[in-house]
Amino acid sequence: MLYRWKVRSLKLPRLNLFWRRWRARKGDVLGSYDRLPEYVRRHAPGRSFADIGCMWGVNGEYAFIAEEAGATRVTAVDVFGPTPEFEEKHRAGGSRVEFVLGDITRADTLDQIGEVDVVFCAGVLYHHPSPFDVLVALRRICRETLILRTSTIPEVRGLPNAAVYFPMLDARSRELWNLKSLGLLHQAGISREFEPSAGYGNWFWGLTPSCLESLVKTAGFRVDFRAMEAFAHTVVCTAVTPALQHDLPDALSSRRLAAEISAAGIARPA
Ligand SMILES: C[S@@+](CC[C@H](N)C(=O)[O-])C[C@H]1O[C@@H](n2cnc3c(N)ncnc32)[C@H](O)[C@@H]1O
Repeated sequence: MLYRWKVRSLKLPRLNLFWRRWRARKGDVLGSYDRLPEYVRRHAPGRSFADIGCMWGVNGEYAFIAEEAGATRVTAVDVFGPTPEFEEKHRAGGSRVEFVLGDITRADTLDQIGEVDVVFCAGVLYHHPSPFDVLVALRRICRETLILRTSTIPEVRGLPNAAVYFPMLDARSRELWNLKSLGLLHQAGISREFEPSAGYGNWFWGLTPSCLESLVKTAGFRVDFRAMEAFAHTVVCTAVTPALQHDLPDALSSRRLAAEISAAGIARPA
């Protein structure tokens, strides 16, 4: 109940502003969508760069910013496009940005992108039913730095790492996550009910920042910088370890493992 009140309050522009000022006074770095170019310009020079989910509403803008900032090779990836605006800017500027039509969770797309120094991914994670798979994919292509911004939900006091799965919520429950009061015109799967035909256009997950950061770490990144907003989170991370992967043993070691488990008597129906 208290949590619903907190979320509703943060959706009111004046209270949201008040919250931002309060957090800033406490020493937190406050984020905003408008700061993304700054992060790209800081990390792209002299590095290879990939923008995952580059197209909707921005027509590859962050890929072009990276190129202008001196990135050595730039790949722009999306599940649709390129848009005419992208192609026009590409032509007019003599750009060498390479567009890849692909889904970041598909192996053939990862092969096409290869490894890059800096991966930028904004506005994608909450649009996927399996955000961990997206993060693992980002880790596979990332040699050094990940710049990630995603929509989040406010922390649930006393319940770190909480998250909400949006599809199939009824209209009343969805209303809590409707951000039109903060200027979001349409959230597929929230403004109206889940639309299977919209695929990744739907909003799937409301991750709390703690849940997001835990997923990011499990995927093999260290969080070096975070900028918070009431309903979004930006992190700049370093690739430190391989992403979690459950290795499938070969048939022989698997039998040996199974025999050990049986002999130890540790396996009980859960
Ligand atoms: C909300 S838009 C964000 C656009 C831009 N990055 C920004 O921050 O303004 C999400 C973009 O990610 C793309 N996208 C969604 N799922 C994707 C996936 N699995 N692989 C690649 N791109 C994806 C969408 O087509 C869309 O262009």
